[in-house]
Amino acid sequence: MATIIDGKAVAAKVRSEVAEGVRQFVQRHGRAPGLSVVLAGDDQASAVYVRNKEKAAAEVGINGRVHRLSAQVSEAELLATVRNLNADDAVDGILVQLPLPGDLRSEVVLDAIDPRKDVDGFHPENVGALWTGKPGLVPCTPRGCMRLLAETGASLAGARAVVLGRSNIVGKPMAALLLAQHATVTLAHSRTRELPALCREADVLIAAVGRSQLVTAEFVKPGAVVIDVGMNRDDAGKLCGDVDFASVSAIAGAITPVPGGVGPMTIAFLLENTLSAANARKG
Ligand code: GUN
Repeated sequence: MATIIDGKAVAAKVRSEVAEGVRQFVQRHGRAPGLSVVLAGDDQASAVYVRNKEKAAAEVGINGRVHRLSAQVSEAELLATVRNLNADDAVDGILVQLPLPGDLRSEVVLDAIDPRKDVDGFHPENVGALWTGKPGLVPCTPRGCMRLLAETGASLAGARAVVLGRSNIVGKPMAALLLAQHATVTLAHSRTRELPALCREADVLIAAVGRSQLVTAEFVKPGAVVIDVGMNRDDAGKLCGDVDFASVSAIAGAITPVPGGVGPMTIAFLLENTLSAANARKG
C-alpha cells in the first residue's frame, strides 16, 4: 500500500511560511503585498476558484482584490484593466482567471501582464526564464507538485519521470522543473503510442491530462511516486483525479489523493509567488 501524500498538510505549512514572510514584508515596507485577480464572465467554477484565492490571500495577510468584469467585456477594456494594474505600485501580483469568455484571446491578455507581476508564470518571459534556468515566476501547480515530490524524499537526479499532459499551465512547466532537478523527462500526451508501457517505466509519474481515472495499475511501476493533478467529475458528479486511486494505491510507493493532494498546493504557491514578486519588486 502506497504512502498517501497529504497535500492539505503540506499546503498549510507553505501558507504559514508565507504568512511569516508577509509579516516581514509589512514591517520593512509599511504595506501588505497586493494580489489582483481579474475575473471576466460568470463561469461557476472560476467564481469558486477566485473566491478561494481571495479568502486564502486574506488569511496570510496579502491584500487581495478581485476585479469582476462582465462576460461581454471587450478585449480593449480587459487590456486596459491589466495595464492599470501593471502601473499600480501597490499591486505586486496579477492573475487573469482562465478560461476567458467569448472570443477574448488569452495569449494576448496574458502577454500584456508585467512579467514581474505575473504570479501565474504564464508570460513568455517567465516561460523562457524557466527553460533557461534564469530567475522568474514559475506556475503555481507545478511548483506545488515539486514540493509534494520533495516531501516524499524521492531522489529526482537520474530518475525517469513521465509527465502525462502537455498544457502550458501544468505539463510543460512540470517537465522543465523535473529536468532542472536532473530527472530524465518524457512528456506524453493523448497521441503517445503504447502509453501504459511508457508510463510503467516511470519512477515519477505526473498525471495532468484531465481524463477521469485514465491511469490504472497497468500504467504504474511498483514503488513509483504518482502525482495526480486531475480535477474531474465522475458520472455521479463526485470529484476524481486522472488516476484510479483504488488500483494504483495498491502498487505505487507514494500517491496524492483527489481531493486533498495537489489541489490545495496551487493556492498555497499562488500566495508564495505573490510574496516572491513583492520582494523582487522591492529589490
Ligand atoms: N484556470 C484554471 N487553472 C488556472 C490557473 O492556474 N491560473 C489561471 N489564471 N486560471 C486558471
